[in-house]
Amino acid sequence: MKIDILSLFPESFSYLNSSIILRAQNKGLVDIDIQNIRDFSQDKHKKCDDYPFGGGAGMLMMVQPLYDAIKKVKKRNSMLIFPSPRGKVFNHEDAKLLAKEKHLVFICGHYEGVDERLFEFFDIKQYSIGDYVLTGGELPTMVMIDSILRQVKGVLTEDSLSEESFSSNLLEYPQYTRPAVFKKKAVPKVLLSGNHQEIAKWRKEMSENITKNNRPDLLKK
Ligand code: ADE
Repeated sequence: MKIDILSLFPESFSYLNSSIILRAQNKGLVDIDIQNIRDFSQDKHKKCDDYPFGGGAGMLMMVQPLYDAIKKVKKRNSMLIFPSPRGKVFNHEDAKLLAKEKHLVFICGHYEGVDERLFEFFDIKQYSIGDYVLTGGELPTMVMIDSILRQVKGVLTEDSLSEESFSSNLLEYPQYTRPAVFKKKAVPKVLLSGNHQEIAKWRKEMSENITKNNRPDLLKK
């Protein structure tokens, strides 16, 4: 998979060079490139934002630098994504679907938003990562990329995927590692029993209880 990120703040993306995402890149499963939108500005001061017509608070990102940046990276099979609180709320199913794409282009807005004409020039899917407002599209882009890459074949083992939260509309059960006792707190006995059937039963019960308490809406799906 190829991922292009267009941002005014390319330095924000160091997270992508760590842990599982770094490993996915090193294994050749994903190729991530970041373009600085400012490099595409035709303004002599490399200006990328301006006041909104009609007045109002804050600045908007200008259409020209974004238009040219998209033109540079977009191919026939590219899926363009704009993180925005106006978008569809991104979930596990979206991550699985996007993991099948060949080329994702994340367009990071900043300030109070972007000139709306951008969405007339290109077919751009908007996603929100939750009902709150962030300063820019950089964090949502990293959140989505992390979650999408976990679903790309070869990035994780099949086991770790099938057990994790949302894989069956249930949240994950509690897990423990050594030591078996820490400051008098012991791990649940069943996990040390070696009885795999009993362990699976306990985990399922715990998953169901946690889901019922924290996210009853998932059980209705
Ligand atoms: N940009 C600002 N807030 C956002 C949100 N909640 N989700 C996605 N993009 C955003």
